[in-house]
This record gives sequence, C-alpha cells and structure tokens, in this order.
Amino acid sequence: MERYQGDCFLVPGPVRLAQSTLSAMATPTMTARGTEYRDVMAELNSLLRMTFNLSPSPSQRGKESWTGEDGYKIIVVSGSGTAAMEMVMANRFSKDEKVLVPTNGKFGERVALLGDVFAEVTHLKGEWGKAFDLDEIDEILARGEHTALAFCHNETSSGIVQDAEALSIIAAKHGVSLILDGITSVGGLPVHPKKWKAEAVVVGAQKCTAGPSGIAAIAVSEDFIERVKARRSKPTANPVYYLDILPALKKGGDDQTPWTPAINLAIGWVAALRILDEETLAGRWQRCEKMAAGVRSLFSSIGLELFADKEQLSSTVTAILYPEGINDQWRAALMEKYSTQVIGAQDHMKGKMFRVGSMGETPIPEMIEGCKRMIECFIDFGMEIENIDVEAHFE
Ligand SMILES: Cc1ncc(COP(=O)(O)O)c(C=O)c1O
Repeated sequence: MERYQGDCFLVPGPVRLAQSTLSAMATPTMTARGTEYRDVMAELNSLLRMTFNLSPSPSQRGKESWTGEDGYKIIVVSGSGTAAMEMVMANRFSKDEKVLVPTNGKFGERVALLGDVFAEVTHLKGEWGKAFDLDEIDEILARGEHTALAFCHNETSSGIVQDAEALSIIAAKHGVSLILDGITSVGGLPVHPKKWKAEAVVVGAQKCTAGPSGIAAIAVSEDFIERVKARRSKPTANPVYYLDILPALKKGGDDQTPWTPAINLAIGWVAALRILDEETLAGRWQRCEKMAAGVRSLFSSIGLELFADKEQLSSTVTAILYPEGINDQWRAALMEKYSTQVIGAQDHMKGKMFRVGSMGETPIPEMIEGCKRMIECFIDFGMEIENIDVEAHFE
C-alpha cells in the first residue's frame, strides 16, 4: 500500500471536506425559491433518505423526494445537529410529558439537558463509556409514566455505541416513542429507523457524511408528525417559531424550506452525499469499522486501554486512555511535529484520554499513516515500543 503523504486529520467531526464538496459550495448565488434550488433540495432529500437507510425516493423536483414507501419524511435544518435536536424535542413534547434519557457521555447528557427545556426529563445518568443497564430502563418504562425514550446513539465523547436494537425492543414493549441523536452514527454505522420504529433520528452534516458544518437533517415517522400536530392544539405546547416543524412539513413536499435555506451548505452537502452514494452506505459502514478495528487492535497491542465497554465499541470514534505520565502535551506534539490531529477528551476526562475519529471519507492509508505517527510520538514521550507492524492491524 502506498504511504500516505499529507496531514492526517483524524477527528470525530467536523471532518475534512472533499475538493468536490468545497468547489460545490462556491456555486454562484441562486434564488431560494426558484427551480434551480428546488432541484438541489430534491437531490439532497433523496440522498439523505439513502443515508438514513430509508426506502428510496426520486431525486427530481416535484416528485416527493423527501418521503418514500416507509412513510418517513426528511426535514433539512439550517443549523448544526443541536438545532435539529431542539426542533425534535420542542415540537414533539411538552412540559407535562415525561421522557426517559439514559446517558453515558457528554452528548447524551446534552440530550437530557436540551430535552428538559421542552419536556420533563428523567435523566438516567450513567458512567461515561459504560453500557446502559437495560433492565433498569425496562423497569422504569414499565411504570408507565414515560411517553418516550431518547438517547444519543453513538456517544462521541466516550466512544460507545448504544445497543439501539435492544432499546427499540424495550421501547416497543412499553409503547413509548424512540428518539435518536444519530449525529455521529447516521452514515457511519448501521442505523435502522424503520426496523427500530424510531420516531425521529437526527444527523449533522459535518460528521459521518463529510458535509459542511451548519446544516443538519431529521428523519421523522408518520407517528411523529401526527403526535406533533395533536400536541400543537394543547395549551401546554412549547413555544416555537424558527424551529417550528409544521411550516417545514408544509414546504417539504414542494422541495422547499420555510425560511431562506443554507443554500451553499446544501449544495456542498449534496456533493458530499454523492461521494457516499458512490461508496455505498454499506461500504462506508464497513470502511469505518475496518479503521476503528485497526485502531483498537493497534493501541491495545501496545498496552493502552480503550475507554468504552468492549462489547459496544463505536466504529466512528475510539476513545483511548493515555498511559501513565502522558497527557494532552502528546496531542500538541503530534500536531506540531507530525501534522496529525486527533481530539482530546471533554469534562472530567480532559487530559486523560484522546479520541480518534474514523468517519467521513478518511482513506485507510491516512489512518494507517496517522497511527504510525502516533506511535512515533508516543516513543518521543518515552514509551518503549518494539518494532511494530501497524499495517498488520488494518488487514
Ligand atoms: C453525538 C453528538 N451529538 C450532538 C453533537 C452536537 O452537534 P452539533 O455540534 O452539530 O450541534 C455532537 C457533536 O460533536 C455529537 O457528536
């Protein structure tokens, strides 16, 4: 395999953009309501359905590109993933409704905090990186007080992917709605909205899909739409305006958005999703898994400890504990001397571990080269590492 020459950018989003994505964003201004932009939206909707692992839709304007046989609809949101998550929570719930949010990292905790603005959240706050206690979730939902289960599917802060299948079965057993922050899972690892009967799944462009930052999307089910409509007539409905999903649902069928869309970001996202389409969704899931498996195997082999539970390691981000005596100075040196970027940790884990992103369009040779440089940098910091065959971990 040819040795990768450039900078290694191995972070869990925003990820590097392809030249065709960057060039697409330089498209001259077009009007927001004309056929030219509606063509962009139609293709974006159709490509997003592919990315969310939903049934196909036509990519032509005027042909209901946003929906398909499964009844899900795509809503494109101007804003980062959090804006899309807020749109879901604000429209779907009200303060007299209880939502269960189990967490094992920073972004799940954010789902709980955000959700509590618009609903009454029961925050089942677990240890970072540790799998949810499914029996406990089952028991709490069995009390019949909660109407929904919301969680961060792929916890970017701690490198754990939740057992969404099992959670979906528990949710269905108790007849509660399922809401997923799929910001670093959709487009990077298996997500099955229909099989899991998820009411809403959120994605941010800048992560697994290698699109630009500042644009996001939601896949919503028919149940979600019905419940949002029913809730709106109640006095307890949350106040919404810019993130009101009803105008978005009204405009969606016409390949439009209620407000001026993030035109050039949407054009860029289309270019990025064309690359994903060419690779195929399954192909991307596989490449991300292959890179993450290599990272896990390599760093475990030199004695470093993976932070998350072994059975549920994410394939789009790996959190690795620093060995004794090494901290984020290593990361600074890695960037300065080896032109290689990985990301640090958040909150109480800051300085204790680093995270390697394996998402977006990162070629495997870049990951291998980045890993070689990480090893060299660990040697610079005094680790004794015997001659190591990095490539072998990625075969
Ligand atoms: C799982 C997850 N959820 C939510 C967010 C926040 O998304 P955004 O920064 O796009 O608003 C992130 C960002 O890293 C994330 O990884």
